[in-house]
Amino acid sequence: MPGKKSDMQHTAMTIEHCLQHCSTPDLQNLLRVAAAAAVKAGALLQELYDQPHQIRHKGPIDLVTEADLAAEELILDVLRDTLPEIKILSEESFASYEKIPEEPVWIIDPLDGTTNFAHNFPWFAVSIAFYDRGKSQIGVIYSPIQKELFCATRTGGAWLNDQRIKVSEVSALHNALVATGFPYDLQERTDAILAMLKTVLTHTQGVRRPGAAALDLAYLACGRLDAFWEIGLKPWDTAAGYLLVEEAGGALSNFNGSPFSPFIPELLASNTFLHRDLTALLHGFSTVAPCV
Ligand code: IPD
Ligand code: CA
Ligand code: CA
Repeated sequence: MPGKKSDMQHTAMTIEHCLQHCSTPDLQNLLRVAAAAAVKAGALLQELYDQPHQIRHKGPIDLVTEADLAAEELILDVLRDTLPEIKILSEESFASYEKIPEEPVWIIDPLDGTTNFAHNFPWFAVSIAFYDRGKSQIGVIYSPIQKELFCATRTGGAWLNDQRIKVSEVSALHNALVATGFPYDLQERTDAILAMLKTVLTHTQGVRRPGAAALDLAYLACGRLDAFWEIGLKPWDTAAGYLLVEEAGGALSNFNGSPFSPFIPELLASNTFLHRDLTALLHGFSTVAPCV
């Protein structure tokens, strides 16, 4: 089909720069596969986007649509066809994890921004990371409506389509545009969520809640946002985006300043310049044991 071919050609051209800076042929191959899977799944999400949806509730406000499942199946087919030996952690079908994986694993959010998608609010993305040796080595985030493909490889930089990206240089909180998100169990911790929101809102130029954590991180990486915080995140929400932020020169930690991992559900990410001031605002809300 001509449409599919041009999507693939577009992906190949788009990731060319990222590939050139990729440290090993193995990572190059993984990036090619991850980007192809993300763009294919994104095209499917775009096709399904303004159709009637089949919505099921995983919790009172936690939805899954036919599109989450179809995108996941497509991604798994692409990854397993090419690299069947790599394990999978994926939000809808292979979501169980107890500890930080010791073996290489794909970490997948087939549709980040499901609530937006279900309401035909055009703000969602596909997120795929390759995680190995305690860190994401590859991160790919594709926003199909905006046709924006974000890619990063460890030590190889972060890219938006064919442009290298870096975080903003905003260094004063009162000039900063900051994003956040709310976990699905927010009823259980409304006070803390509202107190954090009030604190950041009253110290910055603005707070946004776009509704797709992977895109929040991608937007921080390319300087459209200056910081992002959220609690209750899962590895598939952040595994690709945190590498983008690191490779774009940003900083990530828990609220108390201890090192971030996608397997710890508390994240403060910033352009680095704002990190100390934001940690000062949020550290009292941390539920993570500080590093000693
Ligand atoms: C959600 C989105 C949202 C964030 C939630 C996530 P989903 O992911 O990223 O922005 O606030 O914490 O669970 O369910 O749409 O994949
Ligand atoms: Ca998600
Ligand atoms: Ca999802």
